[in-house]
Amino acid sequence: MTFEQWMRSVLDRVEGALEQYLPAESIEPARLHEAMRYAVLGGGKRVRPLLCHAAGELTGAKAECLDAASAALEMIHVYSLVHDDMPCMDDDDLRRGKPTVHVQYDEATALLVGDALQSQAFVALTSDVLEPAKQAALVRELALASGSIGMAGGQAIDLASVGHTLTRPQLETMHRLKTGALLRAAVRMGALTGDTPDASALQALDAYSAAVGLAFQVVDDILDVTTDSATLGKTAGKDAKDGKPTYVSIIGLDASRALAAQLRSDAHAALAPFGARAQRLAELADLVVNRVS
Ligand code: IPE
Ligand code: IPE
Ligand code: MG
Ligand code: MG
Ligand code: MG
Repeated sequence: MTFEQWMRSVLDRVEGALEQYLPAESIEPARLHEAMRYAVLGGGKRVRPLLCHAAGELTGAKAECLDAASAALEMIHVYSLVHDDMPCMDDDDLRRGKPTVHVQYDEATALLVGDALQSQAFVALTSDVLEPAKQAALVRELALASGSIGMAGGQAIDLASVGHTLTRPQLETMHRLKTGALLRAAVRMGALTGDTPDASALQALDAYSAAVGLAFQVVDDILDVTTDSATLGKTAGKDAKDGKPTYVSIIGLDASRALAAQLRSDAHAALAPFGARAQRLAELADLVVNRVS
């Protein structure tokens, strides 16, 4: 199977799982459920589900178990995007090529969509396709990665940093939390869904995720200045306009590109212990760094 064929099959599965794990629009409150589905379905690159599936294939995880974990990861991610776009945060009106949730609906609905997606993620993760012991391990991974020592903490640092110049280590910490933590969880959750990996395998996967997670946000910062809104599906040039410290603002565009390339090779190097079995993860590292949106 080529990488494109593999991606297509995972993306189809994940779309089906999201459809299945989200409450139907016919269930009351229908407007909230409609808004949740508007935010989640039919858009986005689904990078976290792809990482989860690729890591799970390394440990022999069942595809339907990875679908549940992937749906949970994507719901948390979309919740973070819906809140990130709200007027009290980045105040954006375009996301995945469509009006953001607070624009299409209203602010209170956007707040509740985020809240409800966060809860629904844990409903998906505790569905009975996963054994209870796996459920508990995965819930902990996802909760840690999305809370104050993960994504939400990174978002707090991001907002507190507007208009300030961060040192490079401070910038790296912010990026590792706001974006890296959930990407790392995607890899760990995929791996933990199968036969529990030994400590050295988990360490290698964490080294891979550390590189891919940072690379992801470095590339996001680059694309904000190099790519147009139509291609991105979100407003370009927003970081500079908002006075956000980014890799581009702190080390410049060329050094940011060089860093992304270095992180890509770090990610490949971390996978060496797995050999050809980690091919999908290696290809995903390339995708994260070479993407155009
Ligand atoms: C955007 O994430 C926000 C960041 C964490 C940088 P993605 O680039 O994964 O957004 P979608 O899911 O493809 O829309
Ligand atoms: C968002 O970072 C990270 C999270 C949503 C956790 P950004 O604010 O840079 O994401 P975009 O550029 O709006 O997608
Ligand atoms: Mg933001
Ligand atoms: Mg933003
Ligand atoms: Mg950004």
